[in-house]
Amino acid sequence: MIEAVERKIEQFIAELGEQDTLLLYDRLPHGKRLRAKLVLKIAGSSLQSIKLAAVIEMIHAASLLHDDVIDDAFVRRGKSSLNAIYGNKTAIMLGDVLYSKGFYELNNIDKEIAKVVSNAVVQLSLGERSDVLLSQSFNHDKDRYLHMIYQKTASLIEATAEAAAILASKNRDTYRQYGRNIGIAFQMIDDLLDVTQSSEQLGKPAMHDYEEGKSTLPFIYLYEALNDDEKFRLERLHAVMLKEEDQQWISLKMQEHEIIQKCFLEAKELTDEAIALMQQSGESELEDIARAMIERSF
Ligand code: FPP
Ligand code: MG
Repeated sequence: MIEAVERKIEQFIAELGEQDTLLLYDRLPHGKRLRAKLVLKIAGSSLQSIKLAAVIEMIHAASLLHDDVIDDAFVRRGKSSLNAIYGNKTAIMLGDVLYSKGFYELNNIDKEIAKVVSNAVVQLSLGERSDVLLSQSFNHDKDRYLHMIYQKTASLIEATAEAAAILASKNRDTYRQYGRNIGIAFQMIDDLLDVTQSSEQLGKPAMHDYEEGKSTLPFIYLYEALNDDEKFRLERLHAVMLKEEDQQWISLKMQEHEIIQKCFLEAKELTDEAIALMQQSGESELEDIARAMIERSF
């Protein structure tokens, strides 16, 4: 059924009558299509459901195109990013096309659904801004980190689950909570994999978040656990290119203080809650999606 979503996105773009734009879109690697899968699992495979899934994936793709420009990222999903190949202007403009066509189509689905999804995009944009602002110096504040990842990543996943529930006349609050929890856990694991995986496994440079200035949860917890001299060393390494020996020191200290386990357990608590909600609702496939969220290694 995910194929029907791919075809719908292509149809939406083809309707614009610009062959170049369609060819450019076809160059984007697709990713896991988590949001589309959520819509289909919650709301089934009616035409409305496929349209909603397509719109949300278009908005998501637009946000990643813009994000790679903002982050100066030249690799996305193991391949050269669009901005690396065609430059920032082209990446931003393709993002604008996907985003605005997605919004146009969203308005044809349902007013309440359009409100939920558009509000999430406001959150997404605020979250990206907050991510950039927080990266200007070492952020020690876990609550600010959690709020930022909620906005940047979980808000659209939360809205996806809620919008699909509205479409299927299911309890929107239950699915909203489910989406929020798996969304936050998803970003926590993403931030964790950046410190545990190699560049080959990640399809992008390893420990790059900290080099970019992002003090993600493992770094916030590590800072709390270090002595004063070590705290000084960690802060000095913030937002600079890490030497091999610095990367090894960070990994060693994280092992010593069991930081990875601590972060993993926090993400697991969120997915356990999401799984319990879906158990009560008899949605075993959505339980599996929540489990996959923390079991993934890429
Ligand atoms: C990836 O974060 C970024 C996001 C999930 C959100 C990006 C949002 C915007 C750029 C706002 C603009 C929105 C639209 C719809 C045009 P990351 O950099 O931590 O993850 P990464 O490693 O996958 O790049
Ligand atoms: Mg990025």
